[in-house]
Amino acid sequence: MLGPASRWLEDFILQKIYLDHNATTPLHPEVLDAMLPVLGEFFGNPSSIHSEGRKARVLLDEARERVAELVGAGPGEIIFTSGGTESNNLALLGVALGQKKKNARIITCDIEHPSILNPCKQLEQLGFHIDRLPVNREGRINLDQLRETIRDSTVLISLQHANSEVGTLQDVEKIGEIAAEKSIPFHTDAVQTVGKIPMDVKKIPVDFLSISSHKLNGPKGSGALFMKRGLSALFPTLSGGNQEKKRRGGTENVAGIVGLGIASELAKKHLESDARNSLANLREYFSERIEDSIPGVTLLGDREFRLPNTLNLSIDGANGEALLIGLDVQGISVSTGSACSSGSSLPSHVLTAMQVPEHRINSSLRFSLGISNTKEEIDVVMDTLARLVSLNRKDSRVVG
Ligand SMILES: Cc1ncc(COP(=O)(O)O)c(C=O)c1O
Repeated sequence: MLGPASRWLEDFILQKIYLDHNATTPLHPEVLDAMLPVLGEFFGNPSSIHSEGRKARVLLDEARERVAELVGAGPGEIIFTSGGTESNNLALLGVALGQKKKNARIITCDIEHPSILNPCKQLEQLGFHIDRLPVNREGRINLDQLRETIRDSTVLISLQHANSEVGTLQDVEKIGEIAAEKSIPFHTDAVQTVGKIPMDVKKIPVDFLSISSHKLNGPKGSGALFMKRGLSALFPTLSGGNQEKKRRGGTENVAGIVGLGIASELAKKHLESDARNSLANLREYFSERIEDSIPGVTLLGDREFRLPNTLNLSIDGANGEALLIGLDVQGISVSTGSACSSGSSLPSHVLTAMQVPEHRINSSLRFSLGISNTKEEIDVVMDTLARLVSLNRKDSRVVG
């Protein structure tokens, strides 16, 4: 039974409009239903031989098949991890530390997630050379520049599929072809795409691909790395027992993995249904309404090659932080590209690398939609936003 305080909280939460799905997504009720028995009666250690252990092992195997199905992989190609950050670390450090070339180089780009950029910095300290490709104003790399950057000593290309802030998609098919021509392993951080757009590792020439459960209505602290069959061994970044075929030690987070499995199955159904187009249509409806009713709005990111759920806008003369707080007070959750919202005191490295001028970064807002958002919610957000922008612009003029 809920007490009065939690009932009030529940009412409050129910009234909220959540448009920050690139940060995280709510747990799908079916995922929660599947996880609860694993936290209770099915508590066994999958490495144990007795019946509790065997039951947990079966749950793990079923989840592995579900995750593999979502990305067109074989179950043996899925390594469970604690999330996108660990998957990215395992791909980068695992490949770099597992190879023998002298003066080895890795190619990545300026707008990657910190879970790519920071391991790259660590590798630099260990003597590796990192080639960081710049991006254009829409956030895309130049493929000719990628070709020119490849050297005999390049041991890995790691380029994200979609950017979390602006939603820009890289051409992973072409990147994979270029990498394959030169026999260089290609890793893509697909944390923002898996579950949002179809992904098939049989069609996209990719060797490693990172997945995070909490971006597709699964639990936090659970994820996976796809590693193509036949690749040479990774240096395990978590070294311990024989779990995950010695590629990732540690007793498996069975409940989290089961949650990721069910979330993957639900995402696959969603992607195969019409609902997928309806998310893109809803984003377009929102975008058109904003562009029609608020003058001085600039889209940040690529209009064509973009996640179907993401809308990052710079609103001339407004302050993104102030709008975020104003929207939050009205029960609407979004994020900004300026300081603080990202937990950092610096402007977004992504928008900076895209050469977005500072005043536009400070006036940027990111809306990222999810499967449960509705047109009615967008109408409420639209009215609130238009009102807040006009107040905010007046305030900014008074302050100068
Ligand atoms: C593109 C990208 N990669 C990696 C991550 C990290 O994933 P996790 O939160 O599961 O560690 C995120 C999270 O925001 C992300 O957006």
